[in-house]
Amino acid sequence: MRIGILGATGAVGRQMMECLEEQQIIPDELVLLASPRSEGKILPFAKKQLTVHAVREEWFEGLDYVLGAVDADTSKKWAPAIRKSGAVYIDNSSAFRLEEDIPLVIPEINGSDALNHHGIIANPNCSTIITLMAVAPIHRISPIRKLIASTYQAVSGAGMHGIEELEQEVKDLAEGKEVKPSVFPAQIAYNCIPWIGSGKEEGYTSEELKMRNEGRKILHNPDMKVTCTCVRVPVYRSHSISVSVACEEPVSVEAAAEAISRFDGDVYLEDGYPMPLDTSGQDRVYVGRLRPDMVFDGGLSLFCCGDQIRKGAAANAVSILAYLLAH
Ligand code: A2P
Repeated sequence: MRIGILGATGAVGRQMMECLEEQQIIPDELVLLASPRSEGKILPFAKKQLTVHAVREEWFEGLDYVLGAVDADTSKKWAPAIRKSGAVYIDNSSAFRLEEDIPLVIPEINGSDALNHHGIIANPNCSTIITLMAVAPIHRISPIRKLIASTYQAVSGAGMHGIEELEQEVKDLAEGKEVKPSVFPAQIAYNCIPWIGSGKEEGYTSEELKMRNEGRKILHNPDMKVTCTCVRVPVYRSHSISVSVACEEPVSVEAAAEAISRFDGDVYLEDGYPMPLDTSGQDRVYVGRLRPDMVFDGGLSLFCCGDQIRKGAAANAVSILAYLLAH
């Protein structure tokens, strides 16, 4: 088996390498691709030192699978070459997520959708994955009709440069220097920014509409009403989401707790409350503050938290690959 990682040097690409090792998917050859800036860089994988190559069409020849960890434009640019090579492309970007003939998959929720692919499978948005892992067990008791979410998203969601910008701002402020934001639209150190992505319909941002559009597709729930507010917070890793749901029928806290505990996926219901510092560096999604909602009669509110580079991106993509290999 030959696997390629497009964007291997980024936050998600590097995590994909770790997840492959953890999930014991060790290909005969792993081809690491990135921009020309990274040509010749060395990255460790399975006790070997692998060289990063500047992406060119020839690198895709003979590959069985390509894991994509680049932005949507770069993904769109290389997808035709990957398709031509015959490799199956599991893409973490937003480029193809809403295309009708492209499955959008969280294996524990709609894994079998992955089997109907035509060469490309999309990995969902990070906050959407963490939220849906938390509410999917409730949706199985009674279909979710309405969902309201507010996200608290870590800077690493914007890649390596997001982490560097927070570090630099903290340093600059300590030295009395002026901060110069470039990755985020405002200073992120000691702040929070209620704007992620670009402006879309009726005052919502592109990131906020992903929760609605991708959530509907993954849950096979096209009429689900979703309102989402996405906020960037000065946290390095792990997104947190406050969620309220109303289902077709009322669902008790006890029934939801039991369904979450029995869910066939790494979701853990806490007595206390999950926080990013405790949930980073692992694939598990934590749920806490499960309680009756005070607006939706018979509805539920909860707080969930998970490492968005792992379950929200790399681990989910590698789990899609594992699902394909197992089926
Ligand atoms: P590079 O490190 O060479 O810039 P992140 O989201 O953490 O910033 O990572 C983005 C990933 O996408 C990196 O591996 C980066 O490579 C890669 N990348 C960015 N632009 C391009 C491009 N035009 N062609 C190929 N890879 C790219």
